[in-house]
Amino acid sequence: MYTIDSTTDAHEIERVPAADGELVLRRAGEHYEIISNGCFLMDTRAGASERLLVRTALDALGDTPNPRILVGGLGVGFTLREALTDARVAQVTVIEREPAVVRWGAGPLAPFSGHALTDPRVRVVTSDLVAWVRSRVAEPTAGPGVGPVAEQSHERFHALCLDIDNGPDWTVTDGNASLYDDAGLAALRARLLPGGVLTVWSATASPEFADRLRRRFAHVSVHRVPVPRGEPDVVFVASER
Ligand SMILES: C[S@@+](CC[C@H](N)C(=O)[O-])C[C@H]1O[C@@H](n2cnc3c(N)ncnc32)[C@H](O)[C@@H]1O
Repeated sequence: MYTIDSTTDAHEIERVPAADGELVLRRAGEHYEIISNGCFLMDTRAGASERLLVRTALDALGDTPNPRILVGGLGVGFTLREALTDARVAQVTVIEREPAVVRWGAGPLAPFSGHALTDPRVRVVTSDLVAWVRSRVAEPTAGPGVGPVAEQSHERFHALCLDIDNGPDWTVTDGNASLYDDAGLAALRARLLPGGVLTVWSATASPEFADRLRRRFAHVSVHRVPVPRGEPDVVFVASER
């Protein structure tokens, strides 16, 4: 997310109902802005910290072959694009709550993600990440002596790269807050493969969230990315490595 004031010359392209309100896509010159309930959510102008969100995860994974990445929140696709620049990345699952954001990502915003949604490594799930993380799917078991039993399990990833809010202390909808509490972190951790990495984007320092991560992960680092005005963006990186 990039928290600058929206420009006055921007004009509205589309306004749609969204979770707890509405979403607006605006165009300002060659750039686009996504506004959520009157608050600036993301635009196509910058993206350094959004790219760092996935770059730090891939660096932490070292030489892990064919990493499978989850990107939480499509936005304008900067994070997704960065994941796809790494040839090692085998699969990226994007969890995005708003169907309109996915549609815009395949339409006017496609050039900003490098047309990422057409990459065969990308799978988009239109779902609420907070609920999805806690969900379990029935997977058929197979093998000699195993009957038609379904085992409750869930898909796991080498990296979870999450940017769905202005940060753990500044969520865009009330329901998102439970992603960052102890139960939320436990659910996220259960989605990581052994040695996996969790990264979380924030527009504020969120020291309590950093402490919560330290209680649950062996290694936690905090990266600050200067922005033109205001507090630096922050990327939290948590892993067992
Ligand atoms: C700031 S944008 C993400 C920016 C992205 N990192 C990029 O590079 O453009 C946040 C995105 O998260 C989505 N989002 C917000 N809450 C969500 C939730 N609970 N589940 C899934 N997506 C959510 C928003 O619709 C929006 O597309």
